[in-house]
Amino acid sequence: MKHQGPFAGRTVAVVNDLGPDEQLYLYRKTRELKEAVREGRDLSPFRIEEKDAQVYLIFLEDSTRTRESFRNAAEFLGARTNVFDAATSSFNKNESMTDTIKMLYGYAEASTFVIRSKLEGVCRALETNLSRYAESCGGRRPSFINAGDGKHEHPTQEFLDEYSFLEHLDWRRDHIHLCLTGDLYHGRTVHSKVEGLRVFKEVEVDLVAPELLGMPTHYVERMKDNGYQVREYESLDEYLASGRVAPLWYFTRLQLERMGDAVLDKAPALRHSVTFRQDMLGRLPEGARFYHPLPRDRLSPTNPTFLDDLPLNGWDAQSANGYWTRIALLGMVTGRLGSDYDGAVYERTNYVDDFVREAPVALGSKPEYKVGIKPVEEGIVIDHIASGEAVGAIWNNIDAVRRILGLNVRSSHGVFHSNKGPEVFKGIMSLPDVTSFDGRDLKKLAAIAPGCTLNLVKDHKVVRKYRLSMPPRIYGFGEISCKNPACISHPSHQEGVGPEFLRKEEEPGNPSTTFICRYCEREHPFREIWDI
Ligand code: NCD
Repeated sequence: MKHQGPFAGRTVAVVNDLGPDEQLYLYRKTRELKEAVREGRDLSPFRIEEKDAQVYLIFLEDSTRTRESFRNAAEFLGARTNVFDAATSSFNKNESMTDTIKMLYGYAEASTFVIRSKLEGVCRALETNLSRYAESCGGRRPSFINAGDGKHEHPTQEFLDEYSFLEHLDWRRDHIHLCLTGDLYHGRTVHSKVEGLRVFKEVEVDLVAPELLGMPTHYVERMKDNGYQVREYESLDEYLASGRVAPLWYFTRLQLERMGDAVLDKAPALRHSVTFRQDMLGRLPEGARFYHPLPRDRLSPTNPTFLDDLPLNGWDAQSANGYWTRIALLGMVTGRLGSDYDGAVYERTNYVDDFVREAPVALGSKPEYKVGIKPVEEGIVIDHIASGEAVGAIWNNIDAVRRILGLNVRSSHGVFHSNKGPEVFKGIMSLPDVTSFDGRDLKKLAAIAPGCTLNLVKDHKVVRKYRLSMPPRIYGFGEISCKNPACISHPSHQEGVGPEFLRKEEEPGNPSTTFICRYCEREHPFREIWDI
């Protein structure tokens, strides 16, 4: 085991799997490599000596540039390179991704899997499943690199795009003004810009797309959260008339293969509004430069061929950078590069399970809970269910608590006035026979009815009281699922990937709290994650 840099075994499922310092390191290494090649210097620091490193290319969706640049990059590195033939593989015999990868993992000591799939979040899911497997057999953790997953992300395209911008800007990172145009709705390369542009200190982004192809709101929000100035326009004509036009433009193709019929029918008109015309040339700022992840549509490109030989053409050099940045990235995750890295090593958030707080119980506390036919002598009372919400919502929440926790027992419940004000209501459930409520139940309850309290009653007295707030992470329950049909964890795919959600806001008691799917990153209002 020769190379074990700080990035060895790292998975890159989204741009943020490399922290900003780490991304800058990737760009620095790429630059050094290009210089070394230009000057005919020794390239061995960029090659792996280990003969037992393998790179598997698994492309389950079409690709030319990404696949070929990765294949050539892996060969440059000196890794064993395998192009997985999806058409004749056991995927067609209904084998799960995890099972297939486990087998391929067993063929070498260090493995990197580069995967393109229409299933969103596939690399994150495999990272989880295969790390566990590698640990159980004492092997090295494999890396998974997302080469494009549905309309989610395309982190390695992002790295080559940012590298190309930096190269053009002479490595100045103080400010970037970029126009993103084309299909901002389905295009994963523009979604990855939300995080990739963070390497610049000041970011101005102009989004130019008709409404049907507009950037999804949650990405726009994230751009604003990252401090970017964002402006939106419906067409290139409207944008060029705005008076503040970016010097850097990033075009994208209409992703026809991802569109539903309703949008597909309107494609020609939609394309027209984001296609550059000859008469627009005079309205560009001096030194403007155009980029495109490619491929462009041969019949109706949004950046037409009359631009090809103009100094505006930045996309050819950009495309070549795919090769160099991917050599550097593979070098990092195989552990070959990284020994000279001195920045912060990116660490994932650790979730503190602080959603259960024991509250003090006044000594000799009287039995307050007289809900139902008679007061509770022995058992559990759940109070403050959906407190402050509309009465109908409180009833629904009571129903959800019962069904999800399987509380099919002798009990009573109701909606009552809260002591917080005359118009404030809450739900209460009393469960006289329930004497044990384990940690798992408590977590479930916290995740269905955050803000409620659970009282343990013994001999007519409240002996324990717990205040429950929204857990930071919800997983491991049979009654939850991601509602994005393209997500790897969606039940329809039967990939054996357990759903997992991470809390977005820091306001745990808020009923509008949003949870993000750990795999595809789709946002869900918290009640939507439950299947009931
Ligand atoms: C992009 C992709 O596949 O998302 N292409 C690429 O990787 N070079 C963009 C596209 O297909 O339009």
